[in-house]
Amino acid sequence: MDAQPTAPVPPPGCPAHNSGGRVPLYGSEFAADPQAYYTYMRHYGPTAPVELAPGVEATLVTDYATALQLLQDSGSFRKDARRWRDFNEGRISPDSPAIPLLSYRPNCMFADGAEHLRLRQAVTDSMARVDSLRLSHSVERISDFLISQFSERGSVDLVGSYARQLPLFVFNELFGCTADIGDRVFFGISGMFDGVNADKAIEVLFQAVGELVALKRRQPGDDVTSWLMQHQSKLNDEEMVHQLALLLGAGAEALVNLIGNTLHRLLTEDRYANEGGLIEEAMDDTLWENPPMANYAAHYPVSDMEFAGQKLAAGDLVLVSFAAANTGPALSAARKAGSNRAHLAWSAGPHACPSKEPARHIAVTAIESLFNRIPDVELSVPDDSLTWRPGSFSRGLVTLPARFTPVPPVNRQGRRTATEAPAPQAAATGRKAEQTGVWSKFLTWLTR
Ligand code: HEM
Repeated sequence: MDAQPTAPVPPPGCPAHNSGGRVPLYGSEFAADPQAYYTYMRHYGPTAPVELAPGVEATLVTDYATALQLLQDSGSFRKDARRWRDFNEGRISPDSPAIPLLSYRPNCMFADGAEHLRLRQAVTDSMARVDSLRLSHSVERISDFLISQFSERGSVDLVGSYARQLPLFVFNELFGCTADIGDRVFFGISGMFDGVNADKAIEVLFQAVGELVALKRRQPGDDVTSWLMQHQSKLNDEEMVHQLALLLGAGAEALVNLIGNTLHRLLTEDRYANEGGLIEEAMDDTLWENPPMANYAAHYPVSDMEFAGQKLAAGDLVLVSFAAANTGPALSAARKAGSNRAHLAWSAGPHACPSKEPARHIAVTAIESLFNRIPDVELSVPDDSLTWRPGSFSRGLVTLPARFTPVPPVNRQGRRTATEAPAPQAAATGRKAEQTGVWSKFLTWLTR
């Protein structure tokens, strides 16, 4: 008798047993071992049925070639989330945790065709004006400041006190924020991604970015906000606010995890520790095997279609698993052949990350600066006790506790100074950051 094809059986303990066959891409079990979920999902073929949060159903592309096909076919698949059928037909709760990253906003991420080109060109041209030497100095200065807050203690949470803070400081400089606006941007973005009081955080962020736009209309400066504003795309105020919020939000969160995940690899894998100086290589390996944006690139089919052997209806939510596609067994040969940056961590096609060069530069410089100041930094807890944040989209650690030989703090010229004021522990949480004004504190440190 011929063997009948059977549906894949979830691994013991996998909650797919209880979700109508859909694989849940959320919660602590998924966060603890996402690769086990990706391996299991490959049994479905190039795509798998998933749930991004309770009741939020999607098709996830897990195969590299199929992902490229989707990302490059903007005729059949669109980014405009106003096409999302389940949302339009009322099947998605407005307070679902998946909503903030999926619902439509008037920025380049959710635009298609000519409108996308117009909005994206403003971003790529403005980011291209960022001078890499100036960026290096900015990252090094900020890194000196952040390390000076904990360098005498001999212990630190490298995520909360370093990786999570550095990108926001860099962005405040790049985008020309004043102390007051910078503190509120800091509060808004941290709160949005901490999920603590997220509505209030988003409100504070949009208010602060609105003030930044008004300020730069009056007083343009040598910064990305002013360049965006002066661009021939002629963005109106609403477009400016949404483009800026996207750059700050998408950029900062992904950078936190790129720095954190690469530091984790450097501190836990002997081959980097033994050979030293392999930051670039550890970053490439992180982008392949543990990409900061694990599952995203939400697309919607324009019409009913068959895709990779699956029937899709117009307006179905389809996402790409960059993490699964990058680690698929079919890929290892190409990788060994030397195409070392062919991973999908920055996505591909017309919506691929427009800022990968500056983002990489910021992350490498941040890690180099850290190792230069505290070269003997090492993990202070067992690797298997670390916890990862539980969402579907981002991949990042909750904390990365480390220890090192204490060193004195430095001033902005890199010279050793007297003991710093106590570390702004509060800055790790958005709410308190607004009260303590960590950006204001940095601006004060710059004057010493
Ligand atoms: C300077 C920091 C960054 C900025 C300003 C930035 C900005 C952006 C913007 C504006 C887009 C939307 C492009 C479009 O729709 O045409 C985007 C997309 C994307 N970025 Fe970045 N990004 C940054 C860092 C990162 C990092 C560190 C990663 C992870 C390695 C990353 C991964 C991605 C991915 C995967 C997409 C595609 C998302 C999708 O299609 O849904 N980005 N980025």
